[in-house]
Amino acid sequence: MSIDSLTALVRTIADFPKPGIQFRDITTLLADGAGFRELVDHMARIVEPLDPDLVVGVEARGFILAAALAHALGKGFVPVRKAGKLPGRTVGIDYVLEYGADRLELHEGQVPRGARVLLVDDLIATGGTAQAAAQLLREQGANVLMAIFAIDLPDLGGRLALEADGVATAAIMA
Ligand code: PRP
Ligand code: ADE
Repeated sequence: MSIDSLTALVRTIADFPKPGIQFRDITTLLADGAGFRELVDHMARIVEPLDPDLVVGVEARGFILAAALAHALGKGFVPVRKAGKLPGRTVGIDYVLEYGADRLELHEGQVPRGARVLLVDDLIATGGTAQAAAQLLREQGANVLMAIFAIDLPDLGGRLALEADGVATAAIMA
């Protein structure tokens, strides 16, 4: 399946969750078995040579792709969650979104110092979420090998910001 065909499976919903936001909804792609497999295969081909120790996904949509990728690579999956969701002791970081502010948390000790990690999310917009997640991982002593996204919104500059922080990035669709 071509990238154009994959992209056609993503729908755009205007003014969600706030007026002015063009929301890129991947649920339509995920509901398509061939599309979901193709997307994960594309991502796996990019990250396989990096041979990460762990795959880290960002709540909530990032979990879907990160878990599928972790399974494809035979690696462990670690969730980065919104504040107050993880039951154990956490470490966290505050961040700003395209449409709000939030806090990300990680279970203390779940990413060992020196771990080579892959960061996964469905979409990068301003990059605020991914920058915060990468910073949190680095604060734990992790080596963030790459941040990979299904969709990049290039006009918002998120990938450039992340690369400026020294994080390699990849995206399948724009
Ligand atoms: C979305 C998306 C990314 C983030 C991208 O998540 O899944 O995590 O926004 O935006 P940014 O690059 O401007 O930070 P959202 O916070 O809406 O949460 P969800 O996955 O729980 O829907
Ligand atoms: N997260 C941040 N901006 C978004 C957008 N435009 N569509 C979907 N998810 C998003």
